Amino acid sequence: MDPGSSLHNGKPILEVKEMCKTFFAKERTVIALDHVNLSVYKGEFISLVGPSGCGKTTLLRIIDGLEIADAGQRSLEGVPLSGISQDMAYVFQDINLLPWRSVLDNAALGLEARGMGKSERKDRAMEVLEMVGLASFASSPPYTLSGGMQQRVGVARALAVRPKVLLMDEPFGQLDNFTREALQVEIAQLWEKLGMTIVFVTHDVDEAIFLSDRVALFQPAPGRITEIVDVDLPRPRADYDVRAHPRALELRSHIMTHLRAGKGMPE
Ligand SMILES: Nc1ncnc2c1ncn2[C@@H]1O[C@H](COP(=O)(O)OP(=O)(O)OP(=O)(O)O)[C@@H](O)[C@H]1O
Ligand SMILES: [Mg+2]
Repeated sequence: MDPGSSLHNGKPILEVKEMCKTFFAKERTVIALDHVNLSVYKGEFISLVGPSGCGKTTLLRIIDGLEIADAGQRSLEGVPLSGISQDMAYVFQDINLLPWRSVLDNAALGLEARGMGKSERKDRAMEVLEMVGLASFASSPPYTLSGGMQQRVGVARALAVRPKVLLMDEPFGQLDNFTREALQVEIAQLWEKLGMTIVFVTHDVDEAIFLSDRVALFQPAPGRITEIVDVDLPRPRADYDVRAHPRALELRSHIMTHLRAGKGMPE
């Protein structure tokens, strides 16, 4: 069962069923995922929130096929998946641009991996750089960009492949508060404009509330989704101070209480 989903009655675009993953490290066994179920609906923004080590990255990597599960199934548009999915794209927490490639060639990386021809991939990469406001930096090397700009290139690289589901693992975690807030607004606008489906991992409860339609709460060891909270706040949320909204305060308090009741706290 998918715990606590009330808003969505349609068919999910992405389904994760009974996903299990245990890591065996030196003298330590960690049940990172314990029969995790998750349904993601087309066009929704869903966040995974929970304390460090509760299995968020493991779940996202398994969804994309970067990590192999011990048990469980995943499907996209009803079709079971195996291996790395070409229909999803992953934005990593580390800003891992290739330093010897221009911004444009970095943005085109996923297209190259998918075998797209040079001129088409250049056009497509330029289009997404325009979306993130970096067209004028297309020929620059990445090290000449600020951290926020580099992460925008990471987002552009993922958008370039026009993924059916965009997976984002704490993409703004390394950025200062101002840049982080600016990018939150930008990603919310892109999500609305492109009608994307996004699964977003964050430690930050306010970030999750600002961005999401639903927030899935994780608890660690064993990693489980224990509740899914509907974020019933009006959009566009950049138009008002979400943190001061009475309903946002209620949701924040509910989420924090739930997470505190687990074995860890968000940082
Ligand atoms: N390759 C690995 N080998 C051994 N243990 C691992 C490995 N990857 C993850 N783990 C363990 O699995 C658990 C879940 O890790 P995961 O990275 O998914 O957590 P997370 O929720 O993303 O944490 P954070 O918020 O700190 O990024 C942790 O206890 C971690 O130590
Ligand atoms: Mg993680």
